[in-house]
Amino acid sequence: MQELWTAQRIRETFLRFYKERGHTILPSASLVPENDPTVLFTTAGMHPLVPYLLGERHPGGTRLANVQKCVRTQDIDEVGDNRHDTFFEMLGNWSLGDYFKRETIQWSFQLLTGREWFGIAPERLCVTVFTGDDDAPRDEESIRTWQECFQSVGVTANVAPPGHPDIASGARIYQYGKSKNWWGPAGQTGPCGPDTEMFVDLGTPHDLAFGPACHPNCDCGRFLEVWNDVFMEFEKRADGTFAPLAQKNVDTGMGLERMALVLQEKPTIFETDLFVPLMEWIAREASQREARAERIVADHVRTACFMLSDGVTPSNADRGYILRRIVRRAIRYGRTLGFGSNRLTDLLDIVIREYAAAYPNLTTMHETILMEFRQEEEKFERTVERGLKEFERIAAAATEGRIGGSDAFDLFQSYGFPLEMTVELGRERGLSVDTVGFDIAFAAHQQQSRAATGSFKGGLADHSDATTRLHTATHLLHRALKNVLGEHVTQKGSNITAERLRFDFSHPEKMTAAQVCAVEDMVNDAIAHDLSVAWMEMTTDEAKATGAMGYFEDKYAQLGGKIKVYVVGDDVRGYFSKEICGGPHVARTGMLGRFRIIKEEAVSQGVRRMKASVEPPPGGIEVAGSRTA
Ligand code: ALA
Repeated sequence: MQELWTAQRIRETFLRFYKERGHTILPSASLVPENDPTVLFTTAGMHPLVPYLLGERHPGGTRLANVQKCVRTQDIDEVGDNRHDTFFEMLGNWSLGDYFKRETIQWSFQLLTGREWFGIAPERLCVTVFTGDDDAPRDEESIRTWQECFQSVGVTANVAPPGHPDIASGARIYQYGKSKNWWGPAGQTGPCGPDTEMFVDLGTPHDLAFGPACHPNCDCGRFLEVWNDVFMEFEKRADGTFAPLAQKNVDTGMGLERMALVLQEKPTIFETDLFVPLMEWIAREASQREARAERIVADHVRTACFMLSDGVTPSNADRGYILRRIVRRAIRYGRTLGFGSNRLTDLLDIVIREYAAAYPNLTTMHETILMEFRQEEEKFERTVERGLKEFERIAAAATEGRIGGSDAFDLFQSYGFPLEMTVELGRERGLSVDTVGFDIAFAAHQQQSRAATGSFKGGLADHSDATTRLHTATHLLHRALKNVLGEHVTQKGSNITAERLRFDFSHPEKMTAAQVCAVEDMVNDAIAHDLSVAWMEMTTDEAKATGAMGYFEDKYAQLGGKIKVYVVGDDVRGYFSKEICGGPHVARTGMLGRFRIIKEEAVSQGVRRMKASVEPPPGGIEVAGSRTA
């Protein structure tokens, strides 16, 4: 009998393949990122490697591979379909300035299709490549290499024309733009490049609800993306241009659950051995059956278990809040299946038992995991009934079919209702919820409590107070320049030292003295009003919709699902500025001190440069009766 493709065999096969090709095998890093403050959780194998992708030498050499545990919650609403989950394992290999496109693609093809490896029929594969635009050309080398690979096994691989991908064309190679086939920097600058993605045709019929034609990136479920090879060959510069990188890197990621689905020939990830023990327990113990709820419970308990094992505890901020949402959502769906108090802990035991061999810290954290989960359940139970009454009152009073953001925040703050619980309860009654309003109230509250505890940190602990203040001042300046000169003003560069900020921006002519004064006054006005500075997480689409300033095309930014948007001001007084940024910033503009423009000059055709400083804030080194500049 042929050996089964258990998840463990898939992990081992992947690592053996790359080990034989000179790769150092790294252990999985924690779900709590150490090297990348732009994400709350490790969402891809590359996050722990960011410093090395940026050029630092890795002790393991230039070829690395591992299995990395990851959490992505942006698709939480999709959990329950055939392929989405909130926790997953990513199998990845990296080249740090070593091999590039040819080897990467040839190895991907060999591992996927080789008889002695995963042995997927090449006829079931389709791949996608970057189609090219003003920033970077079409990825010809990837196209050529894929064609050679398919040709070597006697399969024709035609390239579909860009624009109207349709599987009926018989093509095997499809081209898409940046939104699908590009991996960009989290911030405004950094390494990035095209990627090529591999899809397995599951052979299910196309669902016309997803569009007239089916193609690899269609969401109908027929094509399953299993692997992504990213080629980091450009650096995005502050002026928005893309320059070739000196060190070209490769970053790949394959989804373990999805490979298990393919190799075990199951219609959904929940029927693979990664989930079966959980699903069987649920099927046996539930008093009510409902497929979606069962999958949500299994997925969320697994995710919560791994988060707890990495030391995350439920709270009302950051990571803790995400964990709280996951736990409470699992409990809520568990109740609909008939699981009362303290029943889901059995499922935690199963996750720990099933995964302990691959992740030994599950065993060492066993007691803590159960205790934290149980405590959170008790907290939730204490408030949920009163909260449901309050929800009914709010729902009855809702006008225009909408629950306000501040009501949703009250439900969260006083009764522990995670936002999506309010959204789901609202949906059952035909009511929508102002989720952006909720985020604003939530962010403002978080920021206040941080300042209160004196523990404000935006993630980059080494930023001194002076540069943090100038960083916030830069946001105010950016907004004021747009207000005074017009919306054509865009950031072209920014540099901050402890003494001053420097800001380059597009504007066709020298600013008049009156304009310089107006900008300075406007920034000082924002400082005088002591506006709150808060950040919230949202998707790039939401950020766009709220009019935040920043770059939107980054696929990297969409990775963790959410990006950080810093908001200066609040919804009562109106926003002063909203900008995509990783931080850190001061908690209130009053902490800045007086803002002074030092210089305004030309840098190049159409680009101006401003230097400015902030005086030490009141209570700082200010001398009574006089100001030191
Ligand atoms: N970092 C790439 C991804 O997550 C490989 O898709």
